[in-house]
Amino acid sequence: MEETKKDPPQFFKVTIDNITVEVAPGTSILNAARSIGGDVAPPAMCYYSKLEGSGGKCRTCLVEVAAGSTADPRPMPKLVASCRTNVMDGMIVKNITSEKVIDARKHIVEFLLLNHPLDCPICDQAGECSLQDLSYGHGDIGTRYEFQRRLFEREDIGPYIQLHMTRCILCYRCTYVADQLTDKRVHGILDRGEHAEISTYISKAIDNDFSGNMIDVCPVGALTDRTFRFKNRVWFLKPLDAHRDCDKCCGKVTLWNRGEEVYRVTSRKDKWGEVESYDGKPGWICNTCRFEKKKTSDWIIEGPRKISRQSVISAGHYVGVKKPNEIFSAVHDGRKPRLLMDIHKVSEINEPHIELSRIEGPATGAVFNNGSNQQAE
Ligand code: SF4
Ligand code: FES
Repeated sequence: MEETKKDPPQFFKVTIDNITVEVAPGTSILNAARSIGGDVAPPAMCYYSKLEGSGGKCRTCLVEVAAGSTADPRPMPKLVASCRTNVMDGMIVKNITSEKVIDARKHIVEFLLLNHPLDCPICDQAGECSLQDLSYGHGDIGTRYEFQRRLFEREDIGPYIQLHMTRCILCYRCTYVADQLTDKRVHGILDRGEHAEISTYISKAIDNDFSGNMIDVCPVGALTDRTFRFKNRVWFLKPLDAHRDCDKCCGKVTLWNRGEEVYRVTSRKDKWGEVESYDGKPGWICNTCRFEKKKTSDWIIEGPRKISRQSVISAGHYVGVKKPNEIFSAVHDGRKPRLLMDIHKVSEINEPHIELSRIEGPATGAVFNNGSNQQAE
């Protein structure tokens, strides 16, 4: 008798945290979970759907596979990276319903924070940092790490970007941006293990038109915008959707204003923190739009950007607040605040030889201004 061949199913049924969805074969568990949304979607620090090859580095997206498929319902022996594991028909996955996953995630946060400085109060990424959110959601109150943290000098990567290697979690997203969006990559991850670091070869500047997108994909504050650094906290700014006719990019951006002043320009991000797509293409923006169009009159304003209610940016209720009159200079002999408080000039908090964790009690001016700037013993 002639065997009849069965057509492969067009959709796979997968159950994640007791919710069943149908997705196309070849979909990762992470993307299937994202189609359900909310807490069912595992956190992702290195995966970025618009960057080919990303994922598989940070392990924050680990999930438990309780049944592999209808054909082979055995559980997978270890937790798997959901960004790198595709669904099978009949697969049963546990994310927030798995104690193993919750426990593993806690340890992964601890691991990611081993070398990460706790400098959220002065970090420009505060308020929109994936690692900050992850630590609040899953972190422990302390660390068991007893060794010296890695210390690095800050490095300028071209005229617009500064790298704080101490904050980098080696997710590789910025190197994928450089590889896939710019015509030549001049930076990468050098060395391995404890010594791995992002660097440019002989500190070459990255001056490509799309290099600024590295700032947007960095999940932490390791790559920051030099035109915005230390100028304002994101929750004091009012995000507005705006566009302009640009011959290099889509020209669709978010302006971060205070009053009429544009403090920074970023791409528009979706609910997963990724750049939004237009006509099926990611809305990466060029450096001209990002760094050179800093006047409201350069843009056609579409309206206020919707920000998630959970975000500190909207929780602070500062959106819509007008810029107050500047009284600082009036009471300080006409001096402008930035002349009084350039953080680089007044604080050596990131100097490699000052190890904050070894100072007893809070670090004060005395630690940094004792003439010799020696490390506290
Ligand atoms: S600098 Fe940022 S984007 Fe680049 S590898 Fe480090 S954490 Fe990832
Ligand atoms: S998001 Fe899956 S390993 Fe990083």
